[in-house]
Parts: sequence; C-alpha cells; structure tokens
Amino acid sequence: MRILPDPSKARRFLGYLDWLYNPFGRWEVTQVYDLLSTDVATAHGLYLNLGYWTGEEKTLDEACRGLADLLARQAEMGPGDRILDLGFGFADQDIHWMETYRPAHILGLNLTASQVAVARQRVEALGHAERIELREGSATDIPLASGSVDTVLALECAFHFRTRERFFAEALRVLRPGGRLVTADIIPLPDASDRLRRLKQRASWRLVASRFAIPAENAYPAEAYAERLAATGFESIRVDSIREQVYAPLHEYLKRHPSTLARLHPATRLPARIALGMSAETVYAGLDYILAVAVKP
Ligand SMILES: C[S@@+](CC[C@H](N)C(=O)[O-])C[C@H]1O[C@@H](n2cnc3c(N)ncnc32)[C@H](O)[C@@H]1O
Repeated sequence: MRILPDPSKARRFLGYLDWLYNPFGRWEVTQVYDLLSTDVATAHGLYLNLGYWTGEEKTLDEACRGLADLLARQAEMGPGDRILDLGFGFADQDIHWMETYRPAHILGLNLTASQVAVARQRVEALGHAERIELREGSATDIPLASGSVDTVLALECAFHFRTRERFFAEALRVLRPGGRLVTADIIPLPDASDRLRRLKQRASWRLVASRFAIPAENAYPAEAYAERLAATGFESIRVDSIREQVYAPLHEYLKRHPSTLARLHPATRLPARIALGMSAETVYAGLDYILAVAVKP
C-alpha cells in the first residue's frame, strides 16, 4: 500500500517555506498568525511574546508571564478596572491578569479570527467568559464609546497596527481622563554612525519587518515614538528601552534549551538554528524593544 502525504500538512509546510524563504512574498498579518497557529515555543500556555528576563526566570513561560506582569504593574491594574487588551494572541495574558489582579472586565480585540476562536474556548473552559470578552476586531477601529475604559494595553503587537498612530488616537479616545496606555513594542534602533553597523541594523530590521508584516509607517525609533504619543494628546509619557531584558537573554535561553525549538513547526527549525549560531547582537542588531506608558489628560 502506498502512503500518500497528508495534503493539509503538505500545504502547511509549503506555506512555511513561502513565508520563510520567498523574498517577494507579501503576507497579511492575519495570514502569518493563521500559519503559525498554535505551534508556539512555550511549554504550557500559548504566549506569543519574547518574554521579560530579569535573571530569575527558569522557563520561557515564566518570562512571557513576566512581561504581562510588567505591563500590569505599569498600568497599576487592580480590582474594578475596565481593561482593553489589543492583539491578545490566545488570551494567556488576559487569563493571568484576571486571576492575579482581578479587574472588573477585560475586553480583548484581535485581528486574527483563528486565534479568537481558540482563545474563547480557553477562557470559557476556565469559567472566565463573563469577565473576559474576546472579539475579532482591530486596534485601529475600536468598537467602544469614548472615555469608557481605565486602561489600554498592547502587549507586543502595536508594531503590526496599520498604523500605530491610528491606534494611539483610538486609545486616547476610549480612555477615561487619567487612564493609561501601556505598550510593549518592537521598533528600530536609531541608525548607528558606523556604516557596517548601520547595514547590520537595517538588515535585521528588514528581515523581521518583512516576515512579520510590519508596515513601513511604524518604523521609527524611541524618540519619535514619544513625540507621536505627545502629538496624539497624551501626557506623562515614558518610553524606556528594555531590549537588554528581552533579546539577549531569550537568545541565551534558546541556546541552552534547544528542545524549545522542537515545539515549533519543523520548517522553522533550520532558520532558528542558523540564528542561534550567530550572536544576539547580530540577530537583533537593528531592533529596540520598548515599554511605553502614557496618560490621557
Ligand atoms: C506577537 S502576537 C502577541 C500576542 C499576545 N499579546 C502575547 O503576548 O502572547 C501579536 C498579536 O497582534 C494581533 N494583531 C495584529 N494586528 C492587529 C490589529 N490591527 N488589531 C488587533 N490585533 C492585531 C495578532 O493577531 C496577534 O495576536
């Protein structure tokens, strides 16, 4: 008997090859996340962020949750809060925030319908469906009345939004006066003066931006990020780089725990191994990682 390849598996493999290796491929952000599906690197949850590494974390799961905690602390999240969470992935952070900080309500908006479906099932199974409401929708067109939430959060996703500035305007509109916007975001570093370094920076940014559907309009460094928040109308703005607590420690962790990569789709393992053979400084040369906090006057 001849064993035929499973056509859906073969299609998915080809999809990965196109996404990873076709330099002319143009992917919408939802196509990327549909392709990645639940093939995530975390062992227990389905977090999709790079983690916040203080030196205490023993697993990627802990570091991912640590980043969610960092945002919650910056947002001063607490009982009674009405939270808007954008780009929630599979809702791990919403479940964690609800169980740890007890806000009154979390509304999640996510552009990727396949993730919303999985996330809803997870939230329902845990009995949180009444207080964690998950909808398909965009951060650039928020279906909420003006001044209706205390906090807006965007955990490692605002770089995708078309555009980030439209999102800033929407966040300002839906926040109550005194409410906070907190983002963990990936942006380019300012250009280095050294030419070789600058070339490395641009190559690394271009690679990430092209594979992860980052619009060209969102490619500006930290100073411009703060200026755009101010131009939108926010005050008490802080934009701090946390890149030292993200890229290099994640890189070291993956080197020390190669089994983590075995959880990813087989087509991604070769490029992941090549990246781990290089230094973090080269792989992430052009990338900053920032934590931004801004208050609505
Ligand atoms: C890197 S994942 C982060 C997921 C999650 N916050 C986490 O930390 O695990 C980026 C998320 O942004 C979502 N996204 C991209 N563009 C969006 C948009 N315009 N509005 C809402 N969500 C969006 C994607 O569907 C995906 O869930």
